[in-house]
Amino acid sequence: MTSRTERPEQAVDRIQTLSVSTATLRSIYFSCVAYSLLVRNVDHIGILGGMLTTMAKIGYILGSAADDSINQKLALVLEEQAPDRAELNYIDIHQLPIYNRNMDQDFPRPMTEFKDLVWSNDGLLVVTPEHNQSFPAVVKNALDIMTRPWGSSVEGLKMGITGASPGRFGTINSQAQLRQFLPPLGVKIMGSPLLAVHATKDTFNTDGTADATTTQRAKAYMEAFTQFVEQ
Ligand SMILES: Cc1cc2nc3c(=O)[nH]c(=O)nc-3n(C[C@H](O)[C@H](O)[C@H](O)COP(=O)(O)O)c2cc1C
Repeated sequence: MTSRTERPEQAVDRIQTLSVSTATLRSIYFSCVAYSLLVRNVDHIGILGGMLTTMAKIGYILGSAADDSINQKLALVLEEQAPDRAELNYIDIHQLPIYNRNMDQDFPRPMTEFKDLVWSNDGLLVVTPEHNQSFPAVVKNALDIMTRPWGSSVEGLKMGITGASPGRFGTINSQAQLRQFLPPLGVKIMGSPLLAVHATKDTFNTDGTADATTTQRAKAYMEAFTQFVEQ
């Protein structure tokens, strides 16, 4: 409202200022709407400093559910050392039912959701211990589920395999067995670098970090795996 002391030309100036402000507000509003639509609809795009950057989505599963798991520690280091353009998403395989073929008729929902989660990522990282020269049954169960019911396939899935064990050769045997049966199913496994961590009492720290060598290897591994899933 015009105040009693305001002259008519002052009132006109004020109204013009107000209309400019309204136009500015409208343009800010439409920019926000466009921005939120873009972010909501284009899942794989991150906006960094005004530049559009494609994010590599990497799902990972753990072969151990132990409270003090060294493989969980390794996974944390890998997540920490991953490049900024990689997004790591943990996928739990420890709640999955044990597969049997009668389930094919009415595939249990946790299994279907698990498969959807895996395929919602650009690649899958397996971080697993070695049990009796092989990989734990929980990993095999998860991978079997990926291939069922009939018609489901892991064809084209990009996978990285890594792990830690106190054994002298890290998880070499466990990894070798995964590398043996997965490629014939059409899985694309990253060949190098190899990351089989021989874990000693000094490898992982209580704050979630690792020694310098393991940290450096984890960084190189994650850069390579990110490039692998980006191809
Ligand atoms: C049943 C069983 C078998 C194991 N076999 C091996 C083995 O063959 N090679 C090896 O390096 N470590 C072996 N270990 C030791 C594990 O690597 C060690 O317990 C490790 O901490 C497991 O990883 P996690 O801490 O992430 O659970 C075995 C452990 C268990 C429980």
